[in-house]
Amino acid sequence: MPEPCRILVIHGPNLNLLGTREPDVYGRTTLSEIDASLAERAKELGCEIESFQSNHEGALIDRIQEAHSWADGILINPAGLTHTSVSLRDALAATALPVVEVHLSNIFRRETFRHHSHVSAIAVGVVSGFGPASYRLGLEALRRSLDATSE
Ligand code: DQA
Repeated sequence: MPEPCRILVIHGPNLNLLGTREPDVYGRTTLSEIDASLAERAKELGCEIESFQSNHEGALIDRIQEAHSWADGILINPAGLTHTSVSLRDALAATALPVVEVHLSNIFRRETFRHHSHVSAIAVGVVSGFGPASYRLGLEALRRSLDATSE
């Protein structure tokens, strides 16, 4: 029997603007297109996903806290909060769930203030720089990690 795989997918601030936001950096794929293709891949992997985007740190933290009671893992693009939010990191750590951090852009090729992530140290791993595919790769990695911990 494969491990249960209920994943909370979190998109941080400004990711609702994908498609029109700095397309030279983030491409033209919209957030609903990313969510739709992620849902398809999730099905193939035997996972159920629930996606949530907010521009508000507290709303993201509330969702993350709730995940403790139902999810098996968290896939998160913390967006700008990656680089600033200790509270978001603490909320993720408090769930004690495996976390995979993803970024559309390669944050290490960009401005130096993007090089540090408060989340990476509590994540199982990070996928950065593959555009919308970062989410798919992150989900696949999370699935593998759930399977590996059950062995
Ligand atoms: C991002 C990278 C962050 O530095 C930025 O603030 C974002 C998006 C990415 O997906 O590449 O909003 O997380």
